[in-house]
Amino acid sequence: MSLVPEMATLVEKRYLDPHHSLFRFIFDNELKREGFGFRPGQFVMLSIFGVGEAPISITSGPDEKGFIELCVRKAGRVTTVLHNLEENSKVGIRGPYGNGYPVEQMLGGNLLIIAGGLGIAPLRSLIRYALWRRDAFKEIYIIYGARSPENILFRGEMENLVLRNDINCLLTVDSTYGQPWNAHVGRVTDLLERVRMPLKDTSVAVCGPPVFYRFVLNKLLSLGYSKGKIYMSLERRMECGMGKCGHCVVGHKYTCVDGPIFTYWDAINLPEIF
Ligand SMILES: Cc1cc2nc3c(=O)[nH]c(=O)nc-3n(C[C@H](O)[C@H](O)[C@H](O)COP(=O)(O)OP(=O)(O)OC[C@H]3O[C@@H](n4cnc5c(N)ncnc54)[C@H](O)[C@@H]3O)c2cc1C
Ligand code: FES
Repeated sequence: MSLVPEMATLVEKRYLDPHHSLFRFIFDNELKREGFGFRPGQFVMLSIFGVGEAPISITSGPDEKGFIELCVRKAGRVTTVLHNLEENSKVGIRGPYGNGYPVEQMLGGNLLIIAGGLGIAPLRSLIRYALWRRDAFKEIYIIYGARSPENILFRGEMENLVLRNDINCLLTVDSTYGQPWNAHVGRVTDLLERVRMPLKDTSVAVCGPPVFYRFVLNKLLSLGYSKGKIYMSLERRMECGMGKCGHCVVGHKYTCVDGPIFTYWDAINLPEIF
């Protein structure tokens, strides 16, 4: 696999909240544009020429062809310049990297997706994958929590999911901060009590900030979910994204190649994780 990025064009930029925007890119090379395939949970290395590179999860669905979408928080050097780019600007993209969610193993079972804040980015890709082939899953629950109503990323999309009658989508905020909101107020863990599906055959995909993991994982274990079927995304500092530089190593694992998706069972056996 090459370290040389493919040239891509920013074709659309959508404001999501004061810190996050959605960026849609198309590869300039037509073969790459049509042939680019990935699994939900994989990431790309996005480069802004003259500034640097950052690993970013692909948030569009793998069945949507011709473009990829990234949901990006303005965090530091690369992402701040990205947020200031005009449409039609050029960037570099290499990848996809990482293992992604084991979607083939999830097919045929129940799916529980739990996101906190920006954790929705890789999970939006998994949601799109599952809804594209809705009949291939049994029950689907999506639980998404954010700090306040204005921090619910993809709010319109998420509210449309709530209206669907073939899945259960539950939204919550820590506080309304006086903003209009007609869904739950409280922790994601409160909503886990409402999930009604057999634990057997249920895959759980969790992504969110570190403190969110701590509470959600404890709750899932207390409810009896299997450690081997809880999938979490581990983010570590990355340079190459492809197992060459060693920056992302935790214990004996390269999080860029062996991850970023790990079962809870595998993650608890890694040093420095909990
Ligand atoms: C597999 C993977 C997928 C990711 N997906 C997304 C995504 O979909 N959307 C998104 O907005 N961000 C995502 N990130 C995080 C993103 O790569 C970092 O925020 C990155 O540092 C941004 O680059 P920057 O140059 O703008 O910030 P920098 O100038 O590098 O740093 C900004 C701040 O973030 C800290 N930081 C850098 N990397 C990490 C890290 N991995 N974990 C914790 N703190 C870090 C730095 O110490 C600094 O304080 C992902 C990271 C990984 C490893
Ligand atoms: S980022 Fe270089 S080895 Fe993982």
